[in-house]
Amino acid sequence: MSPFRLTRTLPEDATDAALRADVHRGLTGRPKTLPPKWFYDAHGSDLFEKITELPEYYPTRAEREILLARSGDIAAATRARTLVELGSGSSEKTRHLLDALTDLHTYVPVDVSESALTQAGQALAAERPGLDVHALIADFTAELTLPGTPGPRLVAFLGGTIGNLLPAERAAFLASVRALLAPGDALLLGTDLVKDEEVLVRAYDDAAGVTAAFNKNVLTVIDRELGADFEPAAFDHVALWDAEHEWIEMRLRSRTAQTVKVPALGLAVDFAAGEELRTEVSAKFRQEGVRAELFAAGLGLTHWWTDEAGRFALSLSVAR
Ligand SMILES: C[S@@+](CC[C@H](N)C(=O)[O-])C[C@H]1O[C@@H](n2cnc3c(N)ncnc32)[C@H](O)[C@@H]1O
Repeated sequence: MSPFRLTRTLPEDATDAALRADVHRGLTGRPKTLPPKWFYDAHGSDLFEKITELPEYYPTRAEREILLARSGDIAAATRARTLVELGSGSSEKTRHLLDALTDLHTYVPVDVSESALTQAGQALAAERPGLDVHALIADFTAELTLPGTPGPRLVAFLGGTIGNLLPAERAAFLASVRALLAPGDALLLGTDLVKDEEVLVRAYDDAAGVTAAFNKNVLTVIDRELGADFEPAAFDHVALWDAEHEWIEMRLRSRTAQTVKVPALGLAVDFAAGEELRTEVSAKFRQEGVRAELFAAGLGLTHWWTDEAGRFALSLSVAR
């Protein structure tokens, strides 16, 4: 078995402080919002894995198709010795990259979910003798300090997770990724593409209700961590397409007028009947938009691959 290390780059209480600050800001703002990273406790991470298997949720299958077809090209273009993966989750699709990157020495999965990192990291270390797996519990929207590992480095950000960041957050995020890249390093970015509204909405509002359970899990996290009395059944899951911003929004709609207490923050939060709390945006992209956002962050797009049906894209870029 190869070495597996897990490093917490944030102090133990940083997550707690960040959750408090986000919940306070989000529930006292107009409209009410919560950042999507708080979906992912152990149960939320399991629910996300179930979402990736749903018939309606095409992004995982489309991105896997590209990885299966193009991992050899990615390996040839990058010759990476270190693969850093941001928001790695189960690292399932990453296996195709790991198979192709024959010069790889170290895999650095980075995630807020300790349970996902431990499960994936231990399995990979056991399966792949010779691969050094160094997992980081970290927030990829904060400044990242990566372990000193051999270059060239390939930084992968898959799953369309970049779409969960708002435009200004994306610009700051891409600039911080650019700062991590030395000459010869590259960024592999997965972006979901603009398509038919009905297909998009169904991907976030599946018939089995798994995405609804995932959405409501954020309330359970706040109840457990901050002693709140959110009643998940008192909210409906909503997924809608915002054509102006070209993003899907997930919201939780209050079924009735109600007051939710968050004792750890000394808050009593009033919801009107029908009031909506935004829990996630998932932006969809076009090639020119991705190229422009990369360029603005000091990155130059070198490769653009899509699945056969043109639903999802993987791009490779380098510091310019
Ligand atoms: C949409 S899932 C994608 C998972 C996987 N990359 C895939 O393609 O299936 C987003 C992942 O990013 C992680 N995540 C979300 N926000 C994060 C943040 N701010 N910092 C680090 N990880 C985060 C979640 O725990 C989850 O594993």
